[in-house]
Amino acid sequence: ATERTLSIIKPDATRRNLTGKINAVFEDAGLRIVAQKRVQLTEAVAGAFYAVHKERPFYGDLVSFMISGPVVVQVLEGENAVLKHRDVMGATDPKKAAPGTVRAEFAESIEANSVHGSDSLESANNEIAFFFAQTEILP
Ligand code: CMP
Repeated sequence: ATERTLSIIKPDATRRNLTGKINAVFEDAGLRIVAQKRVQLTEAVAGAFYAVHKERPFYGDLVSFMISGPVVVQVLEGENAVLKHRDVMGATDPKKAAPGTVRAEFAESIEANSVHGSDSLESANNEIAFFFAQTEILP
């Protein structure tokens, strides 16, 4: 089925001018960028976005990293978009990511891993609504 997922190009990638290269990977996989904006997250916004990880030991560092520079938040649309996006991103830890995936090619570490993607259709709906109004999504 056609799905939408929430994608974030993280500060390590915007810093290294990789937005276009990462978008090309997504588009080549058949994902369409139907909404996109470059934003500077605040501590409050990044903390709220990652609230599910609040009790994890890496939470504080993750929030600090996510506000260390601009991010590009985007809505990707396509057939099986949630799983397709996760496939092209590769494993969270770049050392475990398959060759050719965004994280294998570009990520610096498990924290500075270049991209975020929703982990389920339910998360995708919540995460898209967190960042975008319906009027900003233009399929
Ligand atoms: P992301 O998909 O954005 O979701 C949570 C993020 O926490 C994850 O990608 C990583 O960048 C970051 N993170 C840092 N350390 C860890 C860890 N040990 N396990 C999982 N995620 C981690």
